Amino acid sequence: MHDRYEKIPVQVYPEASEAARRVAAEIADLIQSREDEGRGAVLGLATGSTPIPVYRELIRLHREEGLSFANVTTFNLDEYSGLDADHPESYTRFMQEQLFDHVDIKPSHTNIPNATGSSTEEKERRCAEYEQKIREAGGIDIQLLGIGRSGHIGFNEPGSPVTSSTRVVTLDRITRLDASADFQGFHNVPRTAVTMGVGTILEADKVFLLAWGKGKADVVRIAVEEKETEAVTASFLQRHDNAEFVLDEAAAGDLTRIRYPWLVDSIVWTPRMQQRAISWASGKTEKPILKLVDDDYNESGLGELIAEGENSYSLNIATFNDYQNTVTGWPGGKPGANDETRPEKSDPQPKHAVIFSAEPQDALVSMGATINRLKEQGHLVTLVALTSGNLRVRDQEALKLIRCLQTVEQSKSPEWQIPPHLGEHVGSLAEGDAEAALNPDIRHLKSVILRAEVVDSASALGISESSLKFLGLPFYDSGRFRQFHVTEDDHEQVASVLEELNPNLVFLAGSVADPMSPQGITFQLVAKAITSFPITTDHIWTYRHREEMLKPYEIDMAVPISPVQHELKANALQRLRAVVDLRNDEALGEDRAVARAYDKLGLAEYEAMEVFQRLEVAEL
Ligand code: GLP
Repeated sequence: MHDRYEKIPVQVYPEASEAARRVAAEIADLIQSREDEGRGAVLGLATGSTPIPVYRELIRLHREEGLSFANVTTFNLDEYSGLDADHPESYTRFMQEQLFDHVDIKPSHTNIPNATGSSTEEKERRCAEYEQKIREAGGIDIQLLGIGRSGHIGFNEPGSPVTSSTRVVTLDRITRLDASADFQGFHNVPRTAVTMGVGTILEADKVFLLAWGKGKADVVRIAVEEKETEAVTASFLQRHDNAEFVLDEAAAGDLTRIRYPWLVDSIVWTPRMQQRAISWASGKTEKPILKLVDDDYNESGLGELIAEGENSYSLNIATFNDYQNTVTGWPGGKPGANDETRPEKSDPQPKHAVIFSAEPQDALVSMGATINRLKEQGHLVTLVALTSGNLRVRDQEALKLIRCLQTVEQSKSPEWQIPPHLGEHVGSLAEGDAEAALNPDIRHLKSVILRAEVVDSASALGISESSLKFLGLPFYDSGRFRQFHVTEDDHEQVASVLEELNPNLVFLAGSVADPMSPQGITFQLVAKAITSFPITTDHIWTYRHREEMLKPYEIDMAVPISPVQHELKANALQRLRAVVDLRNDEALGEDRAVARAYDKLGLAEYEAMEVFQRLEVAEL
């Protein structure tokens, strides 16, 4: 039935790892069957965090099941302009580290576009040669794709023609913003790149577009359900007769069949679904919930809801009350109150609230005002920063600190000694050498800076240093963005902190984040540890993190923020200066946007809100 909406075949998997195993198995089958025919296979490969689980599975198949890449030829989609092959963010280095170094592929069989050259003609010639090489190899058998938030495939940004071939392109602002943490700031992200064209991609025999996490849900829906458009080049896959989207549930979350299932099929109406449908009808008709009439229900395809004895009046009131009951100024439960309809139960009082943060600043940005309230209402509050977060700290901050230390040392020696080797990094930091950000000394220094800033920021919210715990999980410190690797050590540390703190109220984020991101990884770690811990999901809340905005019908607890508290939070966030592109104003604006959404449904109008969702048992 969803065929009516979806113009490309879509497979949805509960977990990215399961989806990746299936795609890797198809690749392995291709390689094997080609080998049986005495021919080689040609793969089109992608970079970014998305394909990594597929590469890890291919490496496993090579190591454990003898899958050989000796007869495989690869063509990568794209590469940034102006980076040396060994630059930490070059796609050449990415492919070496993530796949090629771990399998028996012949280096001469791997191809990555390269548009270096002194003149436009020379660059164009190289691009034409790349196309020619693909043709000579017999064309691409299986093409892997990720999708950027600009809707791009490869680096085919909005406006790329469907017939485009390999060429030099200018990167979209969204793409550069998304890469700014990798490059230590927006201004360091290359402005141009070379990419296979949309036309090149469409010539592949089979195309898999993979996407994980809620951050991709909106653009995935546009590509799959809207008309083909140059504004979202992934939508051009609609005209390919063997293209498939392979998604996890969060990335599929905006598809009509999942978000508005009543439009696709007759459904079993759970209270939650009813709430969702009615708030959708309210938005569609631009009427507050209590003003909806039978005709609004009918015209929004919800006639079924009022057909069986119910009328719009009683449904409106029930839904309005459901929303009203999510609003509470008592995130730790209200002592002594009848709490039948309150989101968080009163008992026990006071509580020990443990707030997990993937990177140290996350919880302050997403739920700073709620943290302040919990503290004010007498709860014991502990903030646990699971990772050091040093990758988020600008190089210039480390450079500044080293220079400060050097100045102090010069003026006051011998008491003021700093490790002499820190001075050695001044040159590379000052020159903006990208490798400097990966140096363990610099990373340590940045962790120290971020820690100091978070202590300062938390103090503005009434949280003292003794309530902060910095874990520094090894997966983060031994990895980098888009390429983290979790080990048993990470699991053990999370389990032991939980045991030590013994909370009866937990807040965490990342349930719908990209599973390769620090937020997605730490969510999985905590969720796993918590299953063997005596706490019910009644007392486990997820807070939204960037790119995971909650829709009103997804909210189980909305904590209103007064104008004064909003300023308090703004002040706390201002103290986080070292974090790359934190975009405080955006975070504060999102708090306001949720309050406006509630207002539009006809509920009381607040300055801002921080919102939470109960952790679903299935997520554990
Ligand atoms: C970059 C790459 C794309 C990739 C996209 C998404 O822009 N050129 O090929 O699909 O990033 O990245 P990620 O998979 O990390 O979300």
